[in-house]
Amino acid sequence: MSKPYYITTAIDYTNAPPHIGHAYEKVMADVMARFQRLTGREVYFLTGVDQHGQKVQKSADAAGLSPQAFVDGVTSKFLALWERLNVRYDGWAATTDDRHKRVVQAMLQKLFDCGQLYKQTYKGHYSVRQEQFLTDKERGPDGVFGEEWGEVIELEEDNYYFKLSEHVEWLKGFIRSHPDFITPAFRANDILNALESSGGQDLCVSRPLERLTWGIPFPFDPGFVNYVWFDALTNYISFAGYLADECGNEGLPEFKRLWPADAEVIGKDILVPAHAIYWMTMLHALGFSDEDMPKLVVHGWWNVKGAKMSKSLGNVIDPNVLADAFTPDGLRYYLMRDIATGYDSDFSEERIIMSYNKELAGGLGNLLNRSLNMAHKYRGGVLAPGSYDDDENRALRETVAAAPTAYVSKMAAWDIHEGIAAAWKIVTHANQFVDSTQPFKLAKDETQAARLDSVLYHLAEALLHVSVLLSPIIPDAMTALRAQIGWTLPDAFVVSDLKWGLLADGHQLGTPVPLFPRLEFEEKA
Ligand code: ME8
Ligand code: MG
Repeated sequence: MSKPYYITTAIDYTNAPPHIGHAYEKVMADVMARFQRLTGREVYFLTGVDQHGQKVQKSADAAGLSPQAFVDGVTSKFLALWERLNVRYDGWAATTDDRHKRVVQAMLQKLFDCGQLYKQTYKGHYSVRQEQFLTDKERGPDGVFGEEWGEVIELEEDNYYFKLSEHVEWLKGFIRSHPDFITPAFRANDILNALESSGGQDLCVSRPLERLTWGIPFPFDPGFVNYVWFDALTNYISFAGYLADECGNEGLPEFKRLWPADAEVIGKDILVPAHAIYWMTMLHALGFSDEDMPKLVVHGWWNVKGAKMSKSLGNVIDPNVLADAFTPDGLRYYLMRDIATGYDSDFSEERIIMSYNKELAGGLGNLLNRSLNMAHKYRGGVLAPGSYDDDENRALRETVAAAPTAYVSKMAAWDIHEGIAAAWKIVTHANQFVDSTQPFKLAKDETQAARLDSVLYHLAEALLHVSVLLSPIIPDAMTALRAQIGWTLPDAFVVSDLKWGLLADGHQLGTPVPLFPRLEFEEKA
């Protein structure tokens, strides 16, 4: 049996509640997990939270809470959002989980034992306010450290370093010889450029306890905790069952079967240096072979009116507010249809209103509603395909038959918005089909009875096909659509099972209920 499709995402920082960028990434991974299942592939979907580090320690202090109490509070907001948005993961990666801590410590020990970590004294300028060492890059044009650094002192400190530089030549070669390592492929250049310009230095991976306590202790030196990125990146293997026997970890997948990750879904800001350089060289240092390297999928950012979201600008978009207004599926649909994977997009209220009212309500919802209403009005909701056929019917069947292939190829390449467009061709064509066949006129003419039956049948079949293709994107709505048609998706149904004639002669349709009730919004002055 082939290995499961292992899809994972960045783990979200728990120093602040989730925003629309977090929602986008997790919904995208969920859509892809559901899509892969729909193609018949076994899937393991891991996501979670990044709970250690200086930022969390600071925020917890400011809130007057222990770091654990603080991250528990923020973590519960992420958990509630994923539940609400139907993000259905198989594994939850929280870095305060003891199983993860044991693997991180085992990894540090392994790297230490094989000489990949060394201790060294570093002397330099240190910003007390920002709690970080400063280099010449941080000096102003006048050679002085600016106001933003507060008090700057000379500090001498011991730390552990990872021999990252030993793996740089390997990494360059690996990237050049593995064009499928990263999606979209143009991102590979960012990595190679960074490696050319000093991105391949050894990495400081410890923090002395005096500076940071909220981290995973070094197993061979209790005076230090692990640097938060070294901790966080390890989640992709620790929760996949890496060293599970050695660490006594239970309830995790079988590593040999699951690894490597088919997709680590991350934003463009954490590609270089974290994922492409730190993570890849860590794995290489641990002895992972080229065949055992993960694949990266790098998405772009949601901005607001061209600007980065930030607390100080007060433009942080809360996904819960959007789910309240547009329903969870309405938000999922917008997040998937209004961005091209790998590129940035701009959040816009007008666009989300348009996508809901015009597309979901006016396009798909209206098609379902009028199809069912006519079938009930003219035929008591009973379908009879009959033997009538004509060019208009054939054309619609061709559109329906062509959609799955186009959809699968786009979705498999992470072009989710184009996958949606491929499925939407059926919606557009079926709405035109109602307009051109004019069932209300056919119903008035006895001699057109067979044609009317065929029209009603074609509409129901077209809708069912759409419901299967869009089920990864708007799962609840598509289940509701099928309930109205009166057809349940059989267990283990896959895209390639889609064929004309899912509904039997004499099929009784269910009751029409508006699928996406149109929303009224106050016009902005
Ligand atoms: O970076 N648009 O956590 P994080 C799209 N804990 N995606 C966005 C975004 C936006 N406006 N803002 C953030 C971290 N993201 C680390 C990751 S992984 C081992 C550790 C994405 O909460 C961001 O690119 O800051 C990242 O992939 C994810 O949200 C979590 O960001
Ligand atoms: Mg970040």
